[in-house]
Amino acid sequence: MNSFHMTLSGAVMLALSGLVTGASAQTVDIAKGKQKAEVCMSCHGADGFTAAAPAIPHLAGQDRDYLVKALTAYRAADTRTDETMTAMAKPLSDSDIINIAAFFSSLPPGKP
Ligand code: HEC
Repeated sequence: MNSFHMTLSGAVMLALSGLVTGASAQTVDIAKGKQKAEVCMSCHGADGFTAAAPAIPHLAGQDRDYLVKALTAYRAADTRTDETMTAMAKPLSDSDIINIAAFFSSLPPGKP
């Protein structure tokens, strides 16, 4: 690995850790996320894949940061609006969102 790559990956690591600690001072708790996600499972499936209807997206194995971004956007109802998902995201705190995202992200993705 040359020094350019070392510097680059170091910068990415720094940016990522800044993102996580910036959003919340807590550590990620997947068990808490699973608890909080119970209400989501009626639509998105307990496995995050067997959704209740075709228009409900799969969450299992999805990138954690993407899920955080999606949920934060639904909650703010600015860049992403969906009546159902905004209602679901409204009561979530920043740490709820991080934990729930970590939980769904940790599930094995379903078959395509
Ligand atoms: C009543 C059914 C229902 C419930 C309950 C529900 N969702 Fe959703 N969810 C949907 C639908 C429908 C969409 C697609 C909305 C759209 O078109 O933007 C969606 C979209 C999403 C997305 C975007 C996925 C992507 O690929 O962009 C995320 C993330 C998400 N839901 C997470 C959750 C979480 C977390 C909960 C629980 C707090 C939850 N949902 C509860 C129906 C539901």
